[in-house]
Amino acid sequence: MIAVRNGSRARARLVALGAHVPERVVTNAEIETWVDTTDEWITTRTGIRERRFVAEDEAASDLGVVAAERILDEAGMAAADVDVLIVPTASPDHIFPSTAALVADRIGAHKAAAFDLNAGCTGFVYALAQACALIESGIGRNVLVVGAEALSRLMDPTDRSTCILFGDAAAGALLVAEEADAQGVTGFLGFELGADGSGGHDLVVPAGGSRQPLGAVDAPGDACIQMNGREVFRFATRVMVDSCTRMLEAVEMGIDEVDLLIAHQANSRIIDHAVPKLGIDPERVLNNLDRYGNTSSASIPLVLTEARDDGRLEPGHLMLLVAFGAGLTWGSTLVRYEPA
Ligand code: COA
Repeated sequence: MIAVRNGSRARARLVALGAHVPERVVTNAEIETWVDTTDEWITTRTGIRERRFVAEDEAASDLGVVAAERILDEAGMAAADVDVLIVPTASPDHIFPSTAALVADRIGAHKAAAFDLNAGCTGFVYALAQACALIESGIGRNVLVVGAEALSRLMDPTDRSTCILFGDAAAGALLVAEEADAQGVTGFLGFELGADGSGGHDLVVPAGGSRQPLGAVDAPGDACIQMNGREVFRFATRVMVDSCTRMLEAVEMGIDEVDLLIAHQANSRIIDHAVPKLGIDPERVLNNLDRYGNTSSASIPLVLTEARDDGRLEPGHLMLLVAFGAGLTWGSTLVRYEPA
């Protein structure tokens, strides 16, 4: 893409959603055969009953390609018209090249700038902020954000505190430029984003980077997700409420003005803890953890795509999105769903 800044007054408008999950369903009963756990323990502690895993020959980009094509179909846009493709992911195909470059090539987005964004499970919200900023600064008009995750590849199947949680999926959204004064366009009302690296060790894949190259792995678990579950739980319950509250206060809105609350799908207990604190009607809170587990950067657009398909998400709805994850990072945004 090429951009000349010309005093753009464009606003970013979220016009389309889409998702793709791999075929293989992994039930809690199957996990019972790997580690000392029970379906009852997993269901009551997390809300998860099953999740999807990629096949042996699949990676994050394979899921991302299908999701990207579905989003563009929904919007009626050709891949050649995408200016920027952002892939938030914590499980990229490689350290480099970026998963985004691989997806852009395969869908035919040959004009697009493409890059990955790693903010752990907050990746989708961070990527929306990037996409919004690129559009509103006049750098790109059509920005595709596709969270693509194959976390099962980074999982230690002998670690019962992590292997029960994660699943694979790709999902995302298309943001387009709309003139700022166009009628009815409200776009993104704001973002609340943060990071606290002092908790980085609480959710980490220690090896495979420059700190501990794969060639220097001592224990096989070092190349897998390692987590201090209690600390992450404490952090997540705190920031989910705080971030939403700060976001609403910043735009002087009340929770009653929000049509749908969509939290990163990590654990039903985290969401259930926040709902009464935020004072939102549970009917307006989306949750599909039972079928997909934690799909990291894909989780928010995955549950949104389902809600669009079953009618719970309607054009014009104001959505409060909130996420938290490795980094440690967190973020929330208020955005209206405005399909073309
Ligand atoms: N099956 C059975 N028992 C398990 C288990 C499993 N799958 N995983 C852990 N346990 C055990 C622990 O070993 C511990 O036993 P102990 O008391 O004998 O030591 C006991 O259950 C309680 O462990 P605890 O860690 O306190 O459980 P918990 O209620 O906090 O649930 C998590 C564990 C991982 C489900 C929970 O901490 C969690 O969801 N944390 C946040 C994770 C997350 O969302 N990460 C991603 C953020 S983006």
